[in-house]
Amino acid sequence: MEYRIVPITEELIPGYRMAFDKVAKESRFLDYLEAPPPPEAVGEFVLSIQNNNLQFVALDDQTVVGWCAITAKAKAIYSHAGVLGMGIVEGYRGRGVGTALIRTTLDAARLRGLKRIELQVRENSLSAMALFEKVGFVKEGVMRKHAFVDGVYENSLLMALLFEST
Ligand SMILES: CC(C)(COP(=O)(O)OP(=O)(O)OC[C@H]1O[C@@H](n2cnc3c(N)ncnc32)[C@H](O)[C@@H]1OP(=O)(O)O)[C@@H](O)C(=O)NCCC(=O)NCCS
Repeated sequence: MEYRIVPITEELIPGYRMAFDKVAKESRFLDYLEAPPPPEAVGEFVLSIQNNNLQFVALDDQTVVGWCAITAKAKAIYSHAGVLGMGIVEGYRGRGVGTALIRTTLDAARLRGLKRIELQVRENSLSAMALFEKVGFVKEGVMRKHAFVDGVYENSLLMALLFEST
């Protein structure tokens, strides 16, 4: 499969939203059960675009099939840190797209001067955890009963990567 990893731009926002919505509706991975309404989604992206483009998407031709974003923390004492989120649309997984996306986004974060990247991943997302460990994230803690979906609680793991040690 041919794919390209590119920084998000405004014209890609609707495609991104569609990809996000598909992964969110699987209910098993993200902290949304569907994409947020357009104003919120657009707001996040405008912010991200202003934020040195620490947001990349994977394109199959012109279709967005995955995304990875690192949002820098706003408070002064956390300003060396960012929070990572990503997803690949079902049907495009297991083909290296996630690896390419996360490596591109982490490289951009390192160049930007961030020192710590953290994320939360639901305990049952084994392939996501394997990917994060592969690129240098380590588990820092368990967030017990962190998610509650369809009447079931699920733990999440807090994972982080420090650029100095990788
Ligand atoms: C997790 C996810 C982002 C990985 O992206 P991907 O494109 O499928 O991943 P890749 O093909 O690049 O594989 C990356 C690594 O993930 C792991 N992996 C991928 N598929 C796997 C599977 N079926 N079982 C176990 N590990 C798997 C492997 O470690 C793999 O590295 P390797 O090929 O060198 O062994 C993607 O599967 C996804 O979007 N899942 C649903 C949403 C999600 O979990 N998002 C993360 C929320 S924090």
